[in-house]
Amino acid sequence: MNTTSGTENPQRPRLIVVGSGIAGLYGALLAADAGADVVLLTKGALADSNTYYAQGGISAVLDEPAPGDTVAAHIADTLQAGAGHCNPEAVRVLCTEARRDIAGLGRFGVRFDLDDDGDPALGLEAAHSAPRILHAGGDATGAGIANALICAVLAAQASGRIRLLGHARATALLQSGRRVTGVEFLHDGQLKTIQADAVLLATGGAGQLFAQTTNPSVATADGLALAWRAGAAVADLEFFQFHPTCMVRTAEVAEAEANQDPLLISEAVRGEGAFLVDAQGRRFMREYHADAELAPRDVVSRSVALHLAALGDPNGHVYLDARVIEAAKGPGFLEKRFPTITRRTREAGIDWTREPVPVAPAAHYWMGGVSTDLHGRTTVPGLFAAGEAACTGVQGANRLASNSLLEGLVFGRRAVEAFLGEQRGPSQDSGSVGASPDGAPPRASSAAGGLPLTHASGTPSVDASEAPFSASLEPSPDGDFPAWEFEAAPGPGPIEASFARPGTFSRGALRRLMTANAGVLRTGGQLREAGAALAAWAAVVRPDNVPDAGDPREHEDANLLLAAQLLVHAARERRTSLGAHYRDDGRPEAAAAEDIDKRYRMTRKASLVHD
Ligand code: SIN
Repeated sequence: MNTTSGTENPQRPRLIVVGSGIAGLYGALLAADAGADVVLLTKGALADSNTYYAQGGISAVLDEPAPGDTVAAHIADTLQAGAGHCNPEAVRVLCTEARRDIAGLGRFGVRFDLDDDGDPALGLEAAHSAPRILHAGGDATGAGIANALICAVLAAQASGRIRLLGHARATALLQSGRRVTGVEFLHDGQLKTIQADAVLLATGGAGQLFAQTTNPSVATADGLALAWRAGAAVADLEFFQFHPTCMVRTAEVAEAEANQDPLLISEAVRGEGAFLVDAQGRRFMREYHADAELAPRDVVSRSVALHLAALGDPNGHVYLDARVIEAAKGPGFLEKRFPTITRRTREAGIDWTREPVPVAPAAHYWMGGVSTDLHGRTTVPGLFAAGEAACTGVQGANRLASNSLLEGLVFGRRAVEAFLGEQRGPSQDSGSVGASPDGAPPRASSAAGGLPLTHASGTPSVDASEAPFSASLEPSPDGDFPAWEFEAAPGPGPIEASFARPGTFSRGALRRLMTANAGVLRTGGQLREAGAALAAWAAVVRPDNVPDAGDPREHEDANLLLAAQLLVHAARERRTSLGAHYRDDGRPEAAAAEDIDKRYRMTRKASLVHD
């Protein structure tokens, strides 16, 4: 195994950033500009991230008050969409600091679309009470942001301020005692290690847990698995958001289309007026929620699933009708506002100015993740997490549209600030980085120029007002997986018949199981069956250990299996419906004491402790 030693220049603390979505790229740039020795490690190319595919945009109230909008309204919308499960302090931080990091993006060359007056063009999306969604390239916001940040990272690499390790798959976190001291990774078929003062996990989500997803193939729960194996607490894993309008490929389309990547039809399309109809052409959303297509995302996905089930076609699809937009705003509007969707639907043989698009819910975003405080600190010293991989509690039980890129920005920056503050030691003020209000380039600055960092140094105590609400789940000290996962599923059922004896583990089988048993609608029985099937695979794959494999895909498979077990465990623990976690039981599953493994310690995040 090749080893790269610790910090080469002891004056420059080393931060390893794992992942190249918005949190990783932005965090790496800020840390480098503040003088840290930054290593950016990503398992694919820099553009391989969920961020790259984000269409709708990034929500932010840019002025206070803005015309027709306020930060308070953004906060209220986020809390409401989150179904009462958000950490209000995290939401306050997200919404009030948004404009600071939007300015930070500007300094790295990100440009948002402007309206005819030269002001930022603001879109409306579901569950937002005002148009506040910034977008770039119409519906290519993620690509616009990622491309600009990648250019800045490559420039930083060229000037020796960031070291890039592409196609390098993190396989484990190195630890000295509990403290994380570096990363083990696979590169060019060899296992290597690199030491650091801290590691920032910005590895994104896990849409590949499900058979239908809007996520690219890299979204395999890697950060969650790395953190869990290192002993970090995780939280809110039962809350997985399904986007209601992912294009469905009918048989004819599937044959004709070369590009089979998933195609999200952005929520912004409903924001412009598109509506959902069933196969009979009947608009049905009003029967489920007063806000119809502009209800929170969990409501719309669930309504589609319930409506299809009521029609006796649970695996079917509905249609998104965008023709009304073109009729109202004039020919050519759809192509101008949504160029990517227009091109991709056309490639699939659909002219959406003339016909509705077949759509169905698909796994999109994990609200849960590695538990962190509001400074990206996990329960393991030396380990930070930000973006979709993390759980600050900001997204609650259902994320508000276009708050995900914003989360990566705000909490990615805060994690870097906390890292820098810790490196400076307890006697010094912690720095704020990034977006100084005077428009100067991002740099380290005193706390006076930025926001106070309450956990800047020494042994931070998490103050109750900052602690996320959700219970978090911690690995058992002996690393064993809980015994309940090995229980037999009682009584045969239609789904159990296909999964209780799942045969050889395969990623495809895992994804089908999760979609059938732990998807938009779940029952206690389905979750129990899923737990049994996962346990049977886990007894062979042992996903709680780092795979002893040189094949990167085996690492991903183990990560997915571990994440699936944790998700199903959390979903079984929450016996009533909340947000994106919808128990279709009719009545809650009776609490069974034996279900709760004593080796799991359920703790409130308020008890986060740092060494
Ligand atoms: C969309 O464009 O509908 C996705 C945006 C998001 O997930 O926030």
